[in-house]
Amino acid sequence: MSHHYSCICLLLCSVLLSLLHAEDDCDSGSCHPAIGDLLVGRSEQLTASSVCGLTGPQKYCIIGYLEGEEKCFLCDSRYPYSPYTHPNSHPIENVITTFEPDRKKKWWQSENGIDHVSIRLDLETLFKFSHLILTFKTFRPAAMLVERSTDHGHTWKIFRYFAQNCAESFPSIPSGPAKGVGDIVCDPRYSDIEPSTEGQIVLKALDPSFEIENPYVQSIQELITLTNLRINFTKLHTLGDTLFGRRQSDLLEKYYYAVYEIVVRGSCFCNGHASQCSPVQKLRGDVFYQPGMVHGRCICQHNTAGMSCERCKEFYNDAPWRPAEGSQDNACKVCKCNGHSDRCHFDMAVYVANDHISGGVCEDCQHHTMGQHCDQCKPFFYRDPLRAISDPYACIPCDCDPEGTLYSGLCESRTDPILGTIAGRCLCKENVEGVRCDMCRLSYYGLSGSDPLGCQPCTCNPSGSLSFSMCDPVTGECLCQRFVTGPHCDECLVGYWGLGSNLYGCSPCGCDIGGAHNNLCSSSDGQCECLPNIVGRRCTEPALGYFFLPLDYYIYEAEHAKPLSRSAPLSGRNSTPDIVFREPTPGKPVTWTGPGFARVLNGAGLRFTVSNIPFAMDFDIALRYEPESLEDWIGSIAVNPSGALTSDRCRNKALLQEPYTLALPATKRIALLHTPVCLDPGVEYFVDVYLSQAQAGCLHAVAACRSQKWPAAGTLCGSWWQGGRSESTCCPQPQHFPCSSHWPGTSQWELQRQCLRALATYRNMLSPSPQGRADTSHIWLLLGAAWAMAGRQAAFLSPAAPLAGSCLW
Ligand SMILES: *[C@@H]1O[C@H](CO)[C@@H](O)[C@H](O)[C@H]1NC(C)=O
Repeated sequence: MSHHYSCICLLLCSVLLSLLHAEDDCDSGSCHPAIGDLLVGRSEQLTASSVCGLTGPQKYCIIGYLEGEEKCFLCDSRYPYSPYTHPNSHPIENVITTFEPDRKKKWWQSENGIDHVSIRLDLETLFKFSHLILTFKTFRPAAMLVERSTDHGHTWKIFRYFAQNCAESFPSIPSGPAKGVGDIVCDPRYSDIEPSTEGQIVLKALDPSFEIENPYVQSIQELITLTNLRINFTKLHTLGDTLFGRRQSDLLEKYYYAVYEIVVRGSCFCNGHASQCSPVQKLRGDVFYQPGMVHGRCICQHNTAGMSCERCKEFYNDAPWRPAEGSQDNACKVCKCNGHSDRCHFDMAVYVANDHISGGVCEDCQHHTMGQHCDQCKPFFYRDPLRAISDPYACIPCDCDPEGTLYSGLCESRTDPILGTIAGRCLCKENVEGVRCDMCRLSYYGLSGSDPLGCQPCTCNPSGSLSFSMCDPVTGECLCQRFVTGPHCDECLVGYWGLGSNLYGCSPCGCDIGGAHNNLCSSSDGQCECLPNIVGRRCTEPALGYFFLPLDYYIYEAEHAKPLSRSAPLSGRNSTPDIVFREPTPGKPVTWTGPGFARVLNGAGLRFTVSNIPFAMDFDIALRYEPESLEDWIGSIAVNPSGALTSDRCRNKALLQEPYTLALPATKRIALLHTPVCLDPGVEYFVDVYLSQAQAGCLHAVAACRSQKWPAAGTLCGSWWQGGRSESTCCPQPQHFPCSSHWPGTSQWELQRQCLRALATYRNMLSPSPQGRADTSHIWLLLGAAWAMAGRQAAFLSPAAPLAGSCLW
C-alpha cells in the first residue's frame, strides 16, 4: 500500500512543480507548459490489440489466489466499466488514472494466452515525453518493448526493450545499461516474476545517469518528443507451464496481461516559447475537457507560432527561429518594413550578410518601395527628400521621357552627395538633354526610344546650311543658305549650282537665254544645256570652228549669183558665173566661204537675188572681194525690187535704185555701202553689182546690208515680233526680255523660249560656215535681230561686227 501512496505523492508534486514553472512567465527567458499525464482525457486515442470479453463473458483464473473463495472469474468488456453495473469490464481506458477510490477494482486485461499484445497511444500532435509508468495487476511481461513515433505512426523507433532474458528474447540488442543517451538497450530489471502484482515498469525519456550538456540539440529533442507511443508485450510469464501444449484450456486461462494503470508523463511541446497550451482541435465551447488534460496547442510567446511554437509568427522573421534556452528567450523579431508591407520571410544569407542583426526580407512592398526593409524606391520612382521613407508617399514616380532616358525612363532614386546623385534626376541618353530628357541636344534631332543614343546628329551639309550643326530637332531638317534646298541642305535649287564651291550657298546657273535650252545647269560644274555648237558653262561661246552669226545677217554667195554683162543685164546663155574653186591650204589662213570665188571680168557684174527678208527694215550692204591684181577696183551697186513694194516701211524710203559707187581698194577685202537700204519681206530684190577696172581681174563681190534704223545693240524691238508695227516699243535691257510685256499671261521664260525659237529659225537660215569654207565673194544681209545674250554684245558692237563670221585675214 505504501507503494501506491508514494506514486500519488509523486504525481501531486509534479503538478505543483509544473504550476510553479508555468507561473514564471515567458518574459524572462524560456518557459515551459506544465507536465501532466498525457493519457488523461484521451481514452479515445488509447487502443489495445487485445481485450478480454469484448464479445461476451470470458473466463479467466488467477494463480496463487489464496485469500478469496473464487479462483476463476468472468471478464465481460462489452460495456464500459462501471463499479456498479459493469464491474467485470476491462477495456484499455481502465488504465487511465482517475483518482477514484478503490483503485484496484479497475484494470485492463488481455485475452487469455496471447503473447503478442500491443497498447498504443495516438496523440494529436507532438508532445514532450518525460516518462512512462506501467503498474501491472499480474506478473509483468517476460519480454516487451516500447516504441514511439514522431510522425503520427509512419515511422517508429524503439525506445527500449525489457526482458527477463534479454539474450534469448532480443538476441541482437545489447543488454543495458546504456553507454550513452539514446542508446537502445534491453533492460532486464523490470521483467522479474516478482512481484506477482503491482509490479511497475518505468521508462524515462532521458536516462538520468547521463548528464546532458545541451538539452536543446536536435538529437535530444528527438528523444523527448513523440506523437505516438506503442507498448508491445511479446512474452507472458508462464511459471514453467508451456503454452505450446495447450491441452488444457484452464491452463491457458491463468496467463494474460493485466494492467492497473499507465501513466505517460509529458507536456505540450513548445520549444521553450509557451507556458500554456490549448486544445489542438478547436472544439465547440460546450465540449467538456477532462480536468488535468494536457493540451497540445502551445499558446506561443516570444513572437512564435505553430502548434509547438516551431516557427516565427507572421511578420516576425527578422531573426532566425530558435528554441528558447534558459534565460535566452530567442524571441522572433518583427520585420522592419517601414509600413509598406505586412509580410516578410527570413533569409539566412541576408542575415549572415547583416552580421546576424537582421534577416527578415519584406515581401510585396507597397507604395512603390522595395528592398529588404521596403526602404528604397522601386525603379522608375524616386525618394521625396522631404518625406520619411515610412511615408506612403515617400516614393514619387520618375518624370522622365522614356524615349530619351536611359533604361526607358529611369531616374536617380535618391540624393546622395557622395555618389553625386539627385533624387528624381532623369538619366538622359547621350544625345538628349532637358530635365525630362525629352529634348535632343543642340545639333541633334529625331528623339527616339529605339535609338540607344536618343537622338542622331544633324546631317547638314556645311557648305549649304546656315549653321551646319543646327537642324530641326524633330525632322532633322537643316536651315539652308540662299538657293540651297534639301533636308540636309545638300542640293542647289533648280536653276542654281555649285554647292560647296562658293562661300555661301549656290550660284545662279545664269544660262544664256539664247545659247541654252533652258536655265537648268549641272549642279556640280554649272554647265548649262547648250544648243548645238554652242559651248561654255553658260552657253555663251561658239564651239571651235563656229562663230556667232548675228541674227540679222544674211549671206549671199557670189558663186550663186547670176553673171551680168555691161550691156545686157541678164545673159541667158551665161547664167552661171565663172567659179574659181579653192581648197584650203594647210598653214595658210582661209579667207572665203562657199566653194571659192566667182570671177568677174572688168565691166561685168553679178546679180544677187534677195528674197528672204523676214521683216521690213534697213540693211547695210557690204561687199567682200579679193582682187587678182594689185589695182584698185570700183564697184557700182543698185538694188531694185522685182515687183511692187508693199510695206509702209520701205515705200517712202529711198531704195538704192540708182547705182551707188563703191571704192574697192586692192589692199582691202571688204567695202561697206554707207547708205542703208530698206528691204521689205515678200519682195524679191535684185542687187546688181558691176565691177570695173582698167585692168580686168577677179573680183570677189561682197554685198552686205545692214539695218540702219535698228536700235542700239543690246536692245530688241518688240515690233520685230509684231510685224514691225512700231519701233517705239523697243525693249530696254536684254536681261528683261521684251516679249514679256506684250505677251501677257505667258511666263517670262516661255516668252523667252518663243523668242529664241524664232531667232533660232533665222539662225538656221544663216547656218554658220566653217572657216575652212570661207570665200571672198558674198553678201551679208544684216537683219538687226534679237539680242538676248549679253556675251554677244561686245562682238556686235565691235567694228568687226558686221563682218562677224568672216574668215580671218
Ligand atoms: C509492435 O506491435 C505492433 C502491432 O502488433 C507491430 O505492428 C509492431 O511491429 C510491433 N513492434 C515491434 C518492434 O515488433
